[in-house]
Amino acid sequence: MERTFVMLKPGVLQRRIVGTVLSRFERKGLRLLALKLMRMDKALIEAHYAEHRGRDFYEKLVDYTLSGPVIAMILEGEAAVSRVRRLIGPTDINESAPGTIRGDFAYSTRLNIVHASDSAESASRETALFFKPEELYEWEDGNGRWF
Ligand code: CMP
Repeated sequence: MERTFVMLKPGVLQRRIVGTVLSRFERKGLRLLALKLMRMDKALIEAHYAEHRGRDFYEKLVDYTLSGPVIAMILEGEAAVSRVRRLIGPTDINESAPGTIRGDFAYSTRLNIVHASDSAESASRETALFFKPEELYEWEDGNGRWF
């Protein structure tokens, strides 16, 4: 089983589509291990987006991420990193097909409403930035009765 990190950006709360977006991951069968509503401070944003520092969109990305609360989560499942990336769609909004989260709900690449780790290494790094180990809850399906 693999784990991945997902962050719903401020636009998801502003548009009241938290449940809709979360249900895309649940519907696929991914297991929710941790979920947190929080405001990211500048230091956390800079650590999370360190690889983008210096890019022309960086300052606006920081401003957007600071503009309201976000929802951070850890999802578990087989090939969770790549499956979640396929569910959310490509970063470039012009490439995001209808049926993906970005394809259905995001209007601009910069305000693309959801972030998901791009590799198992990024998932570990990002999980450690946002969650303490004791904030993750492991659980099992009940003998297949509920799933
Ligand atoms: P995210 O998955 O959160 O990772 C980095 C973010 O930077 C990305 O989603 C977009 O919000 C933003 N981003 C990446 N590339 C571009 C780009 N070319 N133009 C504007 N914003 C971008």
